[in-house]
Amino acid sequence: MMTTRLIETWLPIAELSEESVRERRSMTALPPIYYLHVWWARRPLVASRAAVLASLLPGDADQARFLRVLGIHGDPVASRKRINTARQRGERFEGEAYSYPRAFSYSPTESELDWVTEQMDRLGLEKPAVLDPTAGGGSIPFEAVRLRLPTFANDLNPVAVLVERLTIQAPLILGNTIVPEFRRLADCFLVLREERLKDFFPPEPESNAIPTNFIWARTITCPYCEGVIPLSPNWRLAPDGTGVRIKPNPATHHCEFEIVHSVKE
Ligand SMILES: C[S@@+](CC[C@H](N)C(=O)[O-])C[C@H]1O[C@@H](n2cnc3c(N)ncnc32)[C@H](O)[C@@H]1O
Repeated sequence: MMTTRLIETWLPIAELSEESVRERRSMTALPPIYYLHVWWARRPLVASRAAVLASLLPGDADQARFLRVLGIHGDPVASRKRINTARQRGERFEGEAYSYPRAFSYSPTESELDWVTEQMDRLGLEKPAVLDPTAGGGSIPFEAVRLRLPTFANDLNPVAVLVERLTIQAPLILGNTIVPEFRRLADCFLVLREERLKDFFPPEPESNAIPTNFIWARTITCPYCEGVIPLSPNWRLAPDGTGVRIKPNPATHHCEFEIVHSVKE
């Protein structure tokens, strides 16, 4: 009987890498679990599904089918190349760059799950359980459950455990019945939040300006000017070189901040 697993023989690293970046690229199209609660070390769902699945499929499993179950239904590497070429030429990319939706949005079908079961049978694995002892934001157990595998998640941090319970367990037990109650509570929360945070998010001076992001930073008090200095490992705001420049003012002993549009600046 075959014992070698797919993850030991082959893994489409370039495709997984590009799909993982794609999964995180747009802040408005992240997997829904990201919006439930922030977790600082949450792995991409497509990579998590690939790791779980490739650990349970035999080494000679059909590679095209594996990609299909992952939701990679085209060539993400070629798509990325097309986008990069268009960007280098300064052209706007017309139409959809990728030929299929983001992989994480794809849930395996019943027949695909049957195929996974058949393949695991070939390894003599009968309903293997997945254990993630340090599950954090829950990507691995989330994907294991989507593959209908018995799943155990654990974490030292009680916040992570709560995130895992609500991300994975609650929807399984309660289904859509919690949606109206969630919306009701969310509306109450928004009212409370606006009241308590309005002083920290001042209105924009220009009427047509819409703030999309605020950056929070720890601060130190400057030993020379006593000004409040935010700490940051980098001051980049966008990949095109846009960022924040610190402008020390020797006359007032204060630092000012301004937005610049190139790395050089
Ligand atoms: C890198 S994160 C996990 C990311 C997660 N596996 C994923 O794929 O999204 C590491 C997690 O391990 C947890 N952790 C660290 N030491 C632990 C321990 N001794 N027992 C259980 N959990 C622990 C941390 O609280 C943190 O949530």
